[in-house]
Amino acid sequence: MLSLAACGGSRQAGDRAQGEKLFTELQCAACHSVRGVGGNSAPALGGQGYTPNTMAGALWSHVSAMWPAMDKAGIKRSPMDERQAADIFTYVAGTPGSDRPGDSARGRQVFEAKFCASCHDEGQYGSVDLTAKAGSVTPFSMVSSVWLHGDGMLSRMVSKNTQWQTVTADEMGDIVAYLNSKKK
Ligand code: HEC
Ligand code: HEC
Repeated sequence: MLSLAACGGSRQAGDRAQGEKLFTELQCAACHSVRGVGGNSAPALGGQGYTPNTMAGALWSHVSAMWPAMDKAGIKRSPMDERQAADIFTYVAGTPGSDRPGDSARGRQVFEAKFCASCHDEGQYGSVDLTAKAGSVTPFSMVSSVWLHGDGMLSRMVSKNTQWQTVTADEMGDIVAYLNSKKK
């Protein structure tokens, strides 16, 4: 996983068959299609040049709207770990594109601009200490993190009067590089 982070997550690490199975088991397929197969109540996933940062950035950007859609459909969120996120990515991407290498200095700027720092620097609002994850953050761990902790973040954002932020693929790559460089 370290080498994956070092090369900006462009290397393919997941298991495609497992990803296809998970896509059905976790009910992504109820709403999303991949290469024409699956539901159509949500954007089709994948496509030319799809990269780990594309998936992670899009998920971070859209979960606040996706949770209510899942609640409304009565679909429970099963846990998704980093490995499962990589498997799902590998299935969704088909032939993945490459991410631009992240830049930790730019990542720090994004971390401030998107209000991440306002919670995470001070450990306010019960937020976790992200320095513990330095060296092991990948786009797939970011997918898993927002899947597992997005709710908790969203509720704190609401109570702080902060809007949920969108993150582009490149910004996600920069955040990953920054978090990996963030030592105590
Ligand atoms: C109940 C329907 C539903 C289920 C189930 C669901 N999603 Fe979504 N998802 C959505 C909707 C709706 C959006 C778009 C939200 C918006 O408009 O901002 C979305 C957005 C996304 C995006 C960003 C799409 C983009 O490129 O703009 C990704 C990635 C994603 N979902 C992945 C998944 C994965 C992976 C799963 C399964 C583990 C899943 N979703 C399960 C409804 C669903
Ligand atoms: C309003 C405060 C707040 C903001 C803004 C915020 N977070 Fe968080 N973050 C939290 C809290 C609280 C948790 C723990 C959530 C939970 O599980 O209840 C968390 C969890 C996380 C985790 C998961 C850690 C783990 O153990 O897996 C990551 C990664 C993370 N945040 C990164 C970010 C990034 C990147 C941004 C900016 C795009 C951001 N956060 C914005 C409060 C915030």
